[in-house]
Amino acid sequence: MEFKKLGRTDLKIPVLGLGTWGVGGFSAKSTEDDDLAVAALRLGLDLGMRFIDTAEIYARGHSEEVVGKAIVNQRDSVFLATKVSAENLSYDSVLKACNASLKRLETEYIDLYQVHWPNSRIPISETMKAMERLVKDGKIRYVGVSNFSVKQTKEAQEALSNLELVSNQVEYSLTERSIENGLLPYADKEEITIIAYSPLERGLISTRTSGDRWGLIDAIASKYQKTRNQVALNWLIEKSPVVAIPKAVNPQHLHENVGAQGWRMFREDSEALSKAFT
Ligand SMILES: NC(=O)c1ccc[n+]([C@@H]2O[C@H](COP(=O)([O-])OP(=O)(O)OC[C@H]3O[C@@H](n4cnc5c(N)ncnc54)[C@H](OP(=O)(O)O)[C@@H]3O)[C@@H](O)[C@H]2O)c1
Repeated sequence: MEFKKLGRTDLKIPVLGLGTWGVGGFSAKSTEDDDLAVAALRLGLDLGMRFIDTAEIYARGHSEEVVGKAIVNQRDSVFLATKVSAENLSYDSVLKACNASLKRLETEYIDLYQVHWPNSRIPISETMKAMERLVKDGKIRYVGVSNFSVKQTKEAQEALSNLELVSNQVEYSLTERSIENGLLPYADKEEITIIAYSPLERGLISTRTSGDRWGLIDAIASKYQKTRNQVALNWLIEKSPVVAIPKAVNPQHLHENVGAQGWRMFREDSEALSKAFT
């Protein structure tokens, strides 16, 4: 597995992690596929994607419970990220939400605690004070945000008095390129890790057919003897601040996704893809 530095820290994290939106349910809790989900997460970990991203909101906390089961006996070798919801960003609510996540995850610490969405009604300085408290108490190791614009990211950075903001998790894929206009170059300059969510366009990248650009990606895939999804993920992680967290419970998908790293395209191919999918 390839690794990249997390923000400005010395910690290296896998370039591919495991997303969990849909693990244990989507907006509601569903337990029927829990065993499959635990097995899928363990397979992903065994394949080297030792980075799991979840959130208190996923399946109303049940995703975190499934993740907790999957990492039993291997907690310390997993980079574990979760998120506090936008409605829980007051000082006391952050502390409370973190304790509840720790309990569901059956762990004593969270590696990366992320603010899931900004909330204009609660000053970011208040949220970040709670984050600093949690780091001091050893309940979380690093602080990140998600869905923050450049301006909001700067505010979050400035609100942290003795810690660095290490990451911003945002939607980024070949077909969703908004961050390239501002956030991506900003993160590159500031050494903030971009955690790309929905990197496979929620599974749609493999099904698209109409338009020349899909012919191009398929030709590039066959040149490197890779699949379309592997090329799409590789195109993301070749950018210096970017790691990606595809979600997959199908074992074939997990095997395919791990094959997206460990190789590089020639610059001309990656530039042709960037242009064709603009
Ligand atoms: N911060 C945020 O606001 C936010 C928002 C959205 C998502 N996220 C995070 O980002 C993660 C990933 O995003 P996402 O789940 O929206 O979308 P995604 O990872 O782009 O796509 C997931 C879908 O693609 C399928 N898939 C995975 N690998 C595949 C492959 N090799 N071939 C064909 N299909 C494949 C999965 O199917 P199977 O599961 O059946 O294998 C699943 O249906 C989430 O799970 C979550 O952790 C964060």
